[in-house]
Amino acid sequence: MRIDVLTLFPNMFSAYLGESILQRAQSAGLVSLQIHNIRGYAEGRHRVTDEPPYGGGGGMILKPEPIFKAIENIAAEDQQVKPKVILMAPQGRLLSHAVAVELAAEPWLLFLCGRYEGIDERVRQHIVDDEISIGDYVLTGGELAALVTIDALARHIPGVLGDEYAAERDSYSTGLLEGPHYTRPEIFRGWQVPEALRSGHAARIARWRREESLRLTWERRPDLLLTAELDEADKIFLMELAQETMVK
Ligand code: ADE
Repeated sequence: MRIDVLTLFPNMFSAYLGESILQRAQSAGLVSLQIHNIRGYAEGRHRVTDEPPYGGGGGMILKPEPIFKAIENIAAEDQQVKPKVILMAPQGRLLSHAVAVELAAEPWLLFLCGRYEGIDERVRQHIVDDEISIGDYVLTGGELAALVTIDALARHIPGVLGDEYAAERDSYSTGLLEGPHYTRPEIFRGWQVPEALRSGHAARIARWRREESLRLTWERRPDLLLTAELDEADKIFLMELAQETMVK
């Protein structure tokens, strides 16, 4: 998979993308990440990338010319595939597990990071294919949002996570929140690892994990239970939780 990013601040990406799982994914050739500076496509001695808004008002708006030029130049590198151009903006559709899985199936993504007050509307209308927001708050720019989106989708590219981190076990893949984890020591400051985990009994451990996951989801995100896949044992456990709640 190929991912390109267009930004005014390329340095913001190198530290995060150069470490850990995302770095390994690039070294292994599973994903090719390229960061481009919008300023490099701006004309003139000053390479101006923004201007005050037409009709007045505060802030600065990103100009269309350097953005169109950048996207067209990058897209021309491949004659067979076209990048899906995604603008990071608070007006976009909300990032979710489902959106991350959907994006991970694309062969080529190009993220455009907005800054300042906004971006010329002609960019949004004529060259952007999709708009994504990472939440109902306004960031100072789309860079962090692009990093969050790239991180969330990269985990779903086959081979990026080792078996030990299988994405299918994550919260949201199972439709439930993930339960607690423990490691050694068995007793830390008097707090003991739960008995089921120490039992060495695979089926008991699996059942304990499932029930903790159901309990946490029941307590914090009961809405997820409406769409999660539940078997008979899960339903009986949830009935017990419901009864406990009523007794309390
Ligand atoms: N740019 C500014 N705020 C944003 C948000 N919430 N999501 C995506 N891009 C943004």
